[in-house]
Amino acid sequence: MGTLMQALVFDGPARDTAATRVAAVERPAPGPGQVAIAVEYAGINFKDVMARRGDGGYAQSWPFVPGLEVAGHVLAVGPGVDTPEPGQRVAALTNTGGLAEVAVADAALTTPLPAGLDPAVAAVVPGAPTTADLLVHDVARVRDGDVVAVHSASGAVGAALAPLARLAGAATLVGIVGAPSRVPLARDAGYDSVHLRGPGLVESVREAAPGGADVVLDPQGTTALEDDLAVLRPTGQIVLFGNAGGCTLDPLPTTGRLYATNARIGGFSLESLSRADPARVRRALTRVVEHLAASRLSVQPTVLDGLAAAPAAQERLATGTGSGKYVVRVR
Ligand SMILES: NC(=O)c1ccc[n+]([C@@H]2O[C@H](COP(=O)([O-])OP(=O)(O)OC[C@H]3O[C@@H](n4cnc5c(N)ncnc54)[C@H](OP(=O)(O)O)[C@@H]3O)[C@@H](O)[C@H]2O)c1
Repeated sequence: MGTLMQALVFDGPARDTAATRVAAVERPAPGPGQVAIAVEYAGINFKDVMARRGDGGYAQSWPFVPGLEVAGHVLAVGPGVDTPEPGQRVAALTNTGGLAEVAVADAALTTPLPAGLDPAVAAVVPGAPTTADLLVHDVARVRDGDVVAVHSASGAVGAALAPLARLAGAATLVGIVGAPSRVPLARDAGYDSVHLRGPGLVESVREAAPGGADVVLDPQGTTALEDDLAVLRPTGQIVLFGNAGGCTLDPLPTTGRLYATNARIGGFSLESLSRADPARVRRALTRVVEHLAASRLSVQPTVLDGLAAAPAAQERLATGTGSGKYVVRVR
């Protein structure tokens, strides 16, 4: 047994916090191309909830240490790593294992922290804002004058998408939420109009954007896909990037239907892209840090004290009763 550290652990799949605990686990060591980070702050994400409930492809094995994003300083580097150097302060996309005293990340998925950037804010950059930046620039390629419609507009990704799409030139931002209580949050995030998912959604979006949407960004699995197609402008595109409800994913429309609707449908996963093209993800991470440093973007997470506070915050995300973004002060 190596050196131990404290970490948040899911012992097995659970719909609530019953199988979550803070426990002593073995401290990870950096492999080739990796760094070990002394975690100061770690972000809480909806992905933790998906791993906790046992959705396919999230927890690789049990017990599982969640946590996809951190800020802290480099403790040690693995073989082949020149930068960052030990002692350097960084934000990093860890994908897993971030809710711990020490986390390992690929060196290629770290970015230095500019002086003056609050590490509690930096810790929540690699997840939602970086996802939003990649969706806008690399996936949907939002252009000047576009109408952009976003599901789950009040969530962490949705709230980051509004300012980033606007900076990219979007003319009209249409927010879609699942509960009336989230309408004001989406408006505060910068959406021009906010609509409730459910009956009447298509008509309501069409009223706000009569020509239809150039881009629809949708983390609701395939449950809203028919509505997405109905609000899409011909040659527009739908990007599917989540499955918040954990529902069965339906097959995509047939090729013939795509011809008939002139629709483009694509997918996005931050974790997959971070493995396939880490340089692209790091560029987005760095762009977001620059937006924050230049006050073009603002993120104000709720800071929780200690790993023991994480299970309740994850439960708030799971039950849709959270407000905003949570970050845990680990040390
Ligand atoms: N593909 C990727 O790489 C990637 C990266 C980051 C996030 N995501 C996904 O994007 C989504 C939003 O993430 P986030 O960080 O913004 O999370 P968040 O701040 O916790 O927001 C999650 C949103 O999901 C909806 N939701 C919550 N519980 C739900 C349930 N049981 N069934 C259906 N909808 C539910 C709610 O929006 P409504 O108002 O619409 O109900 C809520 O605002 C999640 O599905 C997440 O997995 C994907």
